[in-house]
Amino acid sequence: MGGNKCQTHFFECALCARTSPPSETYTCPDCGEPLIIAYDYESVRGKFHSTLAERDALSVWRYSDLLPVARENAVTIAEGGTGLPKSKRLSKDIGLPELFFKNEGQNPTGSFKDRGMTVAITRAVEISAETVLCASTGNTSASMSAYAAKAELRAIVLIPKGRIAKGKLAQAIVHGARITEVNGNFDAALERARKMTGKGGLFLANSINPYRLEGQKTMAFEIFEQLNGKTPDHVFLPVGNAGNICALWKGFKELTRLGITKNAPRMIGVQASGAAPIAQAFSKGANEISVWKNPETYASAIRIGAPARWRGALAAARESGGAIVKVSDREIARSQRLLADHEGIFAEPASASSLAGLIKYKETIKVNETDTVVCVVTGHGLKDQKSVFQ
Ligand code: F0G
Repeated sequence: MGGNKCQTHFFECALCARTSPPSETYTCPDCGEPLIIAYDYESVRGKFHSTLAERDALSVWRYSDLLPVARENAVTIAEGGTGLPKSKRLSKDIGLPELFFKNEGQNPTGSFKDRGMTVAITRAVEISAETVLCASTGNTSASMSAYAAKAELRAIVLIPKGRIAKGKLAQAIVHGARITEVNGNFDAALERARKMTGKGGLFLANSINPYRLEGQKTMAFEIFEQLNGKTPDHVFLPVGNAGNICALWKGFKELTRLGITKNAPRMIGVQASGAAPIAQAFSKGANEISVWKNPETYASAIRIGAPARWRGALAAARESGGAIVKVSDREIARSQRLLADHEGIFAEPASASSLAGLIKYKETIKVNETDTVVCVVTGHGLKDQKSVFQ
């Protein structure tokens, strides 16, 4: 794939600031923290924003000037460019005229994971990987399997036995992944995937892979453009392994770093109360999390007790003046119904936790009536139909 251009980038540790050339080692050799990707922002300044007008419609690849892989190599199924419908009924009930839902269920495999996967699988192709691997609560495996199929790569997915939604399992099967059921939860599956990758020859596509985050950060750019160049005041989103909150916060920070806007939103991460190690640390003002050995919630996508990017999630909440909060399964289920029958959006349970977080913490977090609020709806409800019949 030599000769194709991509933005010059390097790896950076958010904890100890060590920088290193891009490689397939995704954690800092000094402190073990998952790495992020950085650019020479001065070389992108000006160009990134001014060229947008000439670009095609909203999509992940519209922002290729701030992506670490070459657009010519893109393994794409037309991801991103999802809607940001303005709420009508719930905004009245909640008393927030400027309430929006970022509807990530509109992605090709029905979740935001496709944004990260298009970039990660492109990277896998650029380095001539043959087999890609992930642990998953469902959506990552569905997405990775589809992109691996498109790129003609072998896919191996590790899933917690009997604990993922059937629709997501069907996706991994139909796209031809090799599926291994792990006895135990997602955390055990991720640990196993990391060990397997350590032996070499496998490309790890979980969100400790910093290329994933680069694709996912484009959601922030889209929200900014869809609001006609306005940064929302608050962004609510579900948190599981905590890759997405890091990605979104990185996207918003890059907009300020490039001088495109002065404002950054407050990031409010929402966990399920049965799987809330980061919310627990946040509420205590702690700088470490305690791992939850037996996370439990019906929102199976975020049933995670040892989130890989917990430190980044705490940083996003604290730097932005936001919070990491928790909501009960009952509150999640209620929000899933509200989204469906008030807004016409069928979200899977985890995806409804952002709205549940807004409803529950609107006063404590001091969301003002005039504020612009975005709730990220991360995945489509058709994937988890059982949640409706329960
Ligand atoms: N919403 C949905 C629908 C998800 O599938 C996930 C994560 C999240 C929110 C949380 O995102 O992990 O970046 O904090 N699902 C992963 C998976 C873990 O394997 O599909 P996060």
